[in-house]
Amino acid sequence: MEQKVAVFRKEHFNAAHRLFCADWSDEKNMQVFGPCANPNYHGHNYELIVQVNGVPDPITGFVINTKELSTIVKEEIVSRFDHKNLNLDTDVFKNLNPTAENIAIVIYNLIRPRIDKALDLKIRLYETERNFVDYPA
Ligand code: NI
Repeated sequence: MEQKVAVFRKEHFNAAHRLFCADWSDEKNMQVFGPCANPNYHGHNYELIVQVNGVPDPITGFVINTKELSTIVKEEIVSRFDHKNLNLDTDVFKNLNPTAENIAIVIYNLIRPRIDKALDLKIRLYETERNFVDYPA
């Protein structure tokens, strides 16, 4: 069997953020970013879906061991971002707006080095039930 299979692992973290451009007035930031520009921050319940595509191993039948995948996501992402203020508590978002788009790219770059090169990685991140992003697109 050489067909690729997609394996998904869901994880979850809560984090606070603020979206803003320092050069803009509070009014303009509110206009562009809406409630996400609130100067005193606010939280989101982020739902993270990590997708790994590959051919199942002929012996184990696994594309990837989901227990190992869960450990990687917890070590690299959940422990780093859960219950944090992304703007204030993390280096990566000190000068990068923590939009769902940017968070998904950061998550991909943190996980990618720990996944076998033969496997494809995709990140889906829900900021709300209705707003979510995929990376790579
Ligand atoms: Ni927000």
